[in-house]
Amino acid sequence: MNNDIERVLYSRDDISKAAHRLGQQLTEDYKDKKPVVISVLKGAILFTVDVIKEMDVYAELDFIDVSSYHGGTESSGKIDLLHDLSTEISGRNILIIEDIIDTGRTLKYLIDLLKQRNAAEIKVCTLLDKEDGRLIDVKADYIGFAVPNEFVVGYGLDYKELYRNLPYVGVLKPEVYTDK
Ligand code: XMP
Ligand code: MG
Repeated sequence: MNNDIERVLYSRDDISKAAHRLGQQLTEDYKDKKPVVISVLKGAILFTVDVIKEMDVYAELDFIDVSSYHGGTESSGKIDLLHDLSTEISGRNILIIEDIIDTGRTLKYLIDLLKQRNAAEIKVCTLLDKEDGRLIDVKADYIGFAVPNEFVVGYGLDYKELYRNLPYVGVLKPEVYTDK
């Protein structure tokens, strides 16, 4: 699997330093807020685990699964809700944890859903911000890394459901896209 990677963008060490930095900031910002931390499956799961361990606050954890990619490297534009939350959102302070914000469609969908359910506050923490991919004007409040406009895998991010278990974020060799 490691042999399929052309170049590492963010190493295991880079990511753990970013998780620590963000966790310290979130500890400060959420100390009196008892947030519901919403991890966006499946991509954000590794990042969520690392960030919440660095947050010294009372927090609930929940998961939502939305899909816009359907396996390829291009966003399809349509969002499906595959698995819903189990927490009552009304009146709660929400921290969404995402793996990557690209076009912004997924995040817009999530923010709209949580607003409909009367969340008191909605903030967003993302490992990667691909600002050049943006089609909808949404912003993250906490960002691990600003990532260039290329397709990345690893540390939760997949290509056709593979590579999520890489401990770093990298770019695939071009030939991998054709034969997997
Ligand atoms: P949008 O375009 O809705 O995308 O902001 C957010 C979701 O799309 C996936 N995504 C990627 N997945 N490598 C991936 O493995 C990428 O470079 C990439 N860009 C977007 C991801 O699931 C994210 O939650
Ligand atoms: Mg995702």
